[in-house]
Amino acid sequence: MNSSNPVAVKFSQAATTYKQHDVLQRITAEKLFNKAALKGSLVDIGCGPGTDFTGFGQDITKVTAVDLSEQMLAVVNQSFPSYLTLCADAANLPLSKQQFDGLYSNLVLQWCGDLTAVFNEFHRVLKPQATCLISIVTSGSLPELETLGLGHNAFRTVEEITEAIDSEYWQVDSVNECSESLYFNDLRTLLYSIKGVGASVKSHQENSHNNGTEKSSSDKSSSNISSTAVERVTLRGRKDWLALKQHAETIRQAEGIPLTYQITYLQLTKK
Ligand SMILES: C[S@@+](CC[C@H](N)C(=O)[O-])C[C@H]1O[C@@H](n2cnc3c(N)ncnc32)[C@H](O)[C@@H]1O
Repeated sequence: MNSSNPVAVKFSQAATTYKQHDVLQRITAEKLFNKAALKGSLVDIGCGPGTDFTGFGQDITKVTAVDLSEQMLAVVNQSFPSYLTLCADAANLPLSKQQFDGLYSNLVLQWCGDLTAVFNEFHRVLKPQATCLISIVTSGSLPELETLGLGHNAFRTVEEITEAIDSEYWQVDSVNECSESLYFNDLRTLLYSIKGVGASVKSHQENSHNNGTEKSSSDKSSSNISSTAVERVTLRGRKDWLALKQHAETIRQAEGIPLTYQITYLQLTKK
């Protein structure tokens, strides 16, 4: 799976540096932690290098950490030796039915092509009344990259996300969309913040559903966000890179150069 899936390959490359660049992940994780208490057996879908769930107290008895990337799971094994790890796709979980009391998934589902299949799998592996806490990058994210003429992935709207949740099987406790802005001292750090979390690859959603909908204000041939943009501009020459840096200064605010994400937070209960 690792070598053939481009999302897994990119995240595997980022596995060892990820923790230096996970500012957004920590903000969204804290918001998920504050939403509801999780207890009992928990499955973390798209776990990345692993999340410390001690913030939820002693009520979590067992964590199963699932990710497409073997390298991310290797980091989990080192940092959280008590967690069970499983290399699998969120849309096709090799797990038996009704075994978890809770599900946590932070900033992962924007990579998944078939959200309906994903929610069906979540429903299958959870016990009745289990809680799901999910955050997803949503449409309207990364407007600054568009301003700078850099391409980025297309993300789903909140409506497209909620359409994939069948109300016959799920109680939707809350859906909130929030804007999360990060600020950087310079453009290079901003662009590497995206590479550092392995996000410099087109999402599966875009590959399978949104061909041709990539957002790019000046270069329609560019397919990737972030560091690929850095590398591309660097390859075109120092002059282009300096021009881009100068352009970035025009959007600088008091806190730094902004990068804004729209995040949808979901709390669901399995019916
Ligand atoms: C942005 S990282 C988030 C990691 C972690 N949840 C956190 O909060 O730091 C996204 C993770 O999702 C994983 N991933 C992407 N698509 C996936 C899929 N379809 N199934 C399972 N994991 C996936 C990637 O390998 C990566 O480790």
